[in-house]
Amino acid sequence: MFNFCKEIEIIFNIIARYAQKESTPVYFVGGMVRDALMGQDIGDIDILVEGSAIDFVKGLKEACDNGFARINVHGAQNPLIDRFFIDIKSVHESFNTIKAQINGIEIDFASTREEDYPHSGCLPVVKNIGCPIRVDLKRRDFTINAIATRILMVDNTVKYELIDIYNGIEDIKQGKLRVLHDKSYNDDPTRVLRGLDFNLRFNFTFSNSDKNLIENFLKSPDRTGLSLDRVKLTLKKLFSSANRAKAAYENILLKKFYKIWCDEPEFKLEWVQRLVESAKIFNLPSEEIFLKVFFENLPANLNAAENSSNYEIYNLYKNLKTIDLALQYAIFDDKNPIFYYEKLKDIKPDLTGDDLLKQGYKQGKALGEALSRLLEEKLNSIPRS
Ligand code: CTP
Repeated sequence: MFNFCKEIEIIFNIIARYAQKESTPVYFVGGMVRDALMGQDIGDIDILVEGSAIDFVKGLKEACDNGFARINVHGAQNPLIDRFFIDIKSVHESFNTIKAQINGIEIDFASTREEDYPHSGCLPVVKNIGCPIRVDLKRRDFTINAIATRILMVDNTVKYELIDIYNGIEDIKQGKLRVLHDKSYNDDPTRVLRGLDFNLRFNFTFSNSDKNLIENFLKSPDRTGLSLDRVKLTLKKLFSSANRAKAAYENILLKKFYKIWCDEPEFKLEWVQRLVESAKIFNLPSEEIFLKVFFENLPANLNAAENSSNYEIYNLYKNLKTIDLALQYAIFDDKNPIFYYEKLKDIKPDLTGDDLLKQGYKQGKALGEALSRLLEEKLNSIPRS
């Protein structure tokens, strides 16, 4: 199931041996297992420790500094390993997580834990760090992400043992998104958006019971404790692919997923095509444009008067940030911001202030006005096409 390159296999061999020595079970879980079962490339490597991840990695480092990796289980030199170097990158005490680079490969280690949601959509309260894997799996979003794989040493080779208490493997085969309990969307409404992400990335669809749970939740969401940051982070990931942004936006509006954070949106379905285009035209990450439309006050229409000169258009837009130019186009279907951005914004007069000083101008208002006139002439000579 896992097809790791030699370098990574060596790392898991050492981790599995150390886990065995310490009697500490270690697992892969979440996206890594899901993607491997789906035959997709595995992204980041995450390891879950049934115990304290910080103690595990620090202990592993100390053991390896004392030659643990170089001696195999029989006490002989391990011919595979000539170099095993662990560099601890960061430690997060309150969640008991630790990031390490092992032989140059970055691995995140987390401890098993439980999570409580005192209010719908709040950041979860972490408890019971080091709990049994079965208890940890309960806190997860979908069955497809609640499959664990234990990394075990058997007869001096690494074996991977699947733990699938929620039938996630079957749901992967069926392409179904199913939460683990009926309060799940209420606990963490961003799961609706994560589900949409899995729908657009892998074509998974919500099960019928999940559709009902979402519909009921959206009828009367309790936003009092909602972590807007968490919603934004989930949307940021969802919109980071320009290819999926259009469908994501349409789904959020048509299926009323915006109810997670607001009652009636100001943003409109008919903007979607221009929002997608504007990311390309104005060279902006698509998530930046969509997050701005979702969460910030929308701009007033600047709309240049008909027959405006290039110079007037230039002056209308020159103080706007690129994102605000993009919104003028996307929201008001006004092409002047594109003309300004592509043709006018970098135009400079042919002569500089120094040139004019040399020609006998004095520092002051007249020189400023002369430079403005030069700019105006230059701008007005640019053809509209
Ligand atoms: N998770 C969850 N609820 C969330 C976020 C994450 O239960 N709101 C759990 C899931 O088990 C998930 C794991 O944490 O698989 C890791 O989350 P994350 O890294 O955000 O996503 P992946 O599922 O790994 O998927 P990918 O990175 O491919 O999007």
